[in-house]
Amino acid sequence: MDDLAASLKALGLDGVPQQPNTYPTLNPFDIYRSHIADLLSKSSGIDAKIIYPTLAWTAKPENGDLQLAVPALRQKGKNMAEFAKELAEKFPESPLVQPPMVNGTWVGFFFKPAPLTQLVIPAILKSGASYGFNPSLGLRDPANPAAGKKKMIVEFSSPNIAKPFHAGHLRSTIIGGFLANLYEAAGWEVVRMNYLGDWGKQYGVLALGFDKFGSEEELLQNPIGHLYDVYVKISKISKDEADLLKEKKEQIAKMKANGEDASAVEAESAKIQEEGIDEQARKYFKRMVDGEPVALGIWKRFRDLSIEKYKQTYARLNIRYDDYSGESQVKDESMDAAARIMEEKKVSEDSEGAVIVDLTKYSKKLGKAIVKKKDGTSLYLTRDIGAAFERMDKYNFDKMIYVVASQQDLHLAQLFKIMEAMGRKDVADRCQHINFGMVLGMSTRKGTAKFLDDILRDVGDKMHEVMRTNESKYQQVVDPEATADILGISAVMVQDMKGKRINNYPFDMDRMTSFEGDTGPYLQYAHARLCSIYRKAAEAAPEIPDDLSTVDLSILTETHAVDLVRQLALWPDLFLNAVKTQEPTTVLTYLFKMAHALSSSYDHLQVVGSEKPVMLARLALYAAARQTLSNGMKLLGLNPVERY
Ligand code: ARG
Repeated sequence: MDDLAASLKALGLDGVPQQPNTYPTLNPFDIYRSHIADLLSKSSGIDAKIIYPTLAWTAKPENGDLQLAVPALRQKGKNMAEFAKELAEKFPESPLVQPPMVNGTWVGFFFKPAPLTQLVIPAILKSGASYGFNPSLGLRDPANPAAGKKKMIVEFSSPNIAKPFHAGHLRSTIIGGFLANLYEAAGWEVVRMNYLGDWGKQYGVLALGFDKFGSEEELLQNPIGHLYDVYVKISKISKDEADLLKEKKEQIAKMKANGEDASAVEAESAKIQEEGIDEQARKYFKRMVDGEPVALGIWKRFRDLSIEKYKQTYARLNIRYDDYSGESQVKDESMDAAARIMEEKKVSEDSEGAVIVDLTKYSKKLGKAIVKKKDGTSLYLTRDIGAAFERMDKYNFDKMIYVVASQQDLHLAQLFKIMEAMGRKDVADRCQHINFGMVLGMSTRKGTAKFLDDILRDVGDKMHEVMRTNESKYQQVVDPEATADILGISAVMVQDMKGKRINNYPFDMDRMTSFEGDTGPYLQYAHARLCSIYRKAAEAAPEIPDDLSTVDLSILTETHAVDLVRQLALWPDLFLNAVKTQEPTTVLTYLFKMAHALSSSYDHLQVVGSEKPVMLARLALYAAARQTLSNGMKLLGLNPVERY
């Protein structure tokens, strides 16, 4: 704060303008909003508290950096256009903003370039990797940091063991990773949780399959792929049996209709039923449910080996989990306790031996949900109910986000409503479903299902090919394989985060790996180019200081330079907006806009070859841009490369 006060004093301002709940040291826009609100309040007599929230971003830079919609001030009985003019005329001379511009009922404010540059660039260079982020948002009590941070669970990715890692899991991983970073940057304590699909009769099927088709060696080498292969093989047998049973059933019916003796076929049929995979798997799973050590041990090994493998793959995406939970981890006691409450509160009812919750009384759309099958076994939904309460007991979270495809909208709506009906609105209100649309064209032929590793390898290979098309550049890359891998991952992630979450998009390998258009490789290029500018300048002029925050910035007067500074100044405010929208595209759109502004600036703002003071000032600008770009990319979960 002292630094800021001193800088503002040097610019001719006594004191730091600060409206309540604003963060002038972190966010330049807060300074300007407070400053404009103060001045307007003094000249118009309207309370600054009313003015402050009406000062909004402009859609076009020609309209200013901030604008005020005069009708939003709610001053009755005035001609709004006249009033706008009056406000502008009475606006006093300011060291920070130019005389306002009136456009109908709007008043637009432009920041004066020189003070803006002087405030923003050194601030970025000093705050470095934290520029834009605001760790006080997650405080329980902003006035008393000792009260600690609010706690958030982000549950994301959540694939199913021995099943393909499909597009829904990919999107959940990418979006969930972003949300976890976002809330961490906003000062929340974030628990990253993976809720594996690892329970149910199919894991009995899998264990049987491993007995028949499994290989210890392959299991150790490639647990995820191998378990899937085993599962596909055993499922085929199980399916054949089911088909056969169906045939027999028809045969029996026909024979009986004809008055023939069907007892031999009936016996065959019964034998299949008793000895078939389905029944064996049921029995096996029952042993798991009963906690029988051998059965449980085998299953646990599958689970542990799969998790080890997942960890490696997630690491490639810069993701680490705090908690590998899963459907198997939900305790019977939690589900029983929930069942008792549902029964007592008459939330649930018996229905032909099963237990259901009729949610149609709250909303038709919610339908009726089964919470216990006839044979007493739990279901996906039952486990989610138990899990939510367990998480509340374990973490006492303030908020929990489920990052799950929109195909499961109904499931999560049912879950939240059931919790509410059970009298736990307190928990339900803390839960949020973050949903998303589908990826089109990523599904492959049956049996050749894709795993996350394969997807990343495919895209990395493709990226390597694309890099090779520019041979001279390719020669300079130190580790092309590793770079292709990172660029490939960026390609997939950026394509995923480009649109609004709820939109579907086609998986388009050619487009996402292109260096042209708004792609991951393009963004990486923008970052690498800024790094290279610095490297080249340092080669040409070895005496460049490490700390560029004190160089003379008054030389930065070109439109391209000023426009860049205006964009950089916006980043902390944009971060706030991303916390509101919870949309990765909010960040990505901003980064692409900046990348475009950068690429059109290079011809106008040469670094190497310019006079030293000019070179230093431009270098400071580009260093600030690189920092901001890097902060945004990392927030999205990307790994900014320095060269390629
Ligand atoms: N494993 C589930 C699936 O693949 C997703 C789990 C989502 N999370 C939850 N709490 N239900 O469909």
